[in-house]
Amino acid sequence: MKRAVPEVEQREKMYEGKAKIVYATSRPDLIIQYFKDDATAFNALKRGTIVGKGVVNNRMSAALFQRLERAGVPTHYLAILSDREMLCRRLEIIRIETIVRNIVAGSLAKRTGFEEGTPIREPIVELYYKSDPLGDPMITDDHVRLLGLATPRELGWIRRTALRINRVLRPHMARRGLLLVDFKLEFGRARGRLYLGDEISPDTCRLWDARTRTKLDKDRFRQDLGGVEDAYQEVFRRLVEGAVTRT
Ligand code: TMP
Repeated sequence: MKRAVPEVEQREKMYEGKAKIVYATSRPDLIIQYFKDDATAFNALKRGTIVGKGVVNNRMSAALFQRLERAGVPTHYLAILSDREMLCRRLEIIRIETIVRNIVAGSLAKRTGFEEGTPIREPIVELYYKSDPLGDPMITDDHVRLLGLATPRELGWIRRTALRINRVLRPHMARRGLLLVDFKLEFGRARGRLYLGDEISPDTCRLWDARTRTKLDKDRFRQDLGGVEDAYQEVFRRLVEGAVTRT
């Protein structure tokens, strides 16, 4: 059954982040996320533009949020309003970045000395404190308690839900020729319930072509690999348009 899109008007800018702008609406319980083409890396030390990224990230996030809702995962997604605008439930964001990893890459390769591409038998979950001034340090459950970021019950739900999301997205992407290497999630509260928030996009996931292991995500920008726009468009074709073209 298709949900009716609530009648809303866009109001003042509430917050501008590195990749998105959040607007208030005429409904206090709803916000609009506007997806920009701006890209940053290494805590904004590196800046650039990825043409068309906002459209890809908006539409891919919408497709995956809908997939997750069908699997019983509550998300903040309500509707797409335009190529770059998404109507969402307003959440009180929990300042934890939750990472799920299936294959060694990025900071896990550095932390462990394992080679990039090493499979991880049981997916692992990591927690980072969402704080630009501190550079998003990795934290433990005890630090979450010390900082008062979430209750133990909320954290338990976040960990279980992150792994459940992995169990939905990994095969979904595999069917489209993509390896889901790792990804970042953010959760928030609304009216006493928890929801998945933010976005799920090539900015927040590592995605490799399943056959060639070509990187099809923001690592192309972070590592100056070239072909950044083409990679985002390829992911769009596979996950939004549903085609199974190969690189
Ligand atoms: P990492 O290997 O650099 O820790 O990144 C893990 C995952 O988190 C990867 O899919 C990229 C994503 N990520 C973000 O979404 N935001 C960030 O600021 C960083 C550093 C990583």
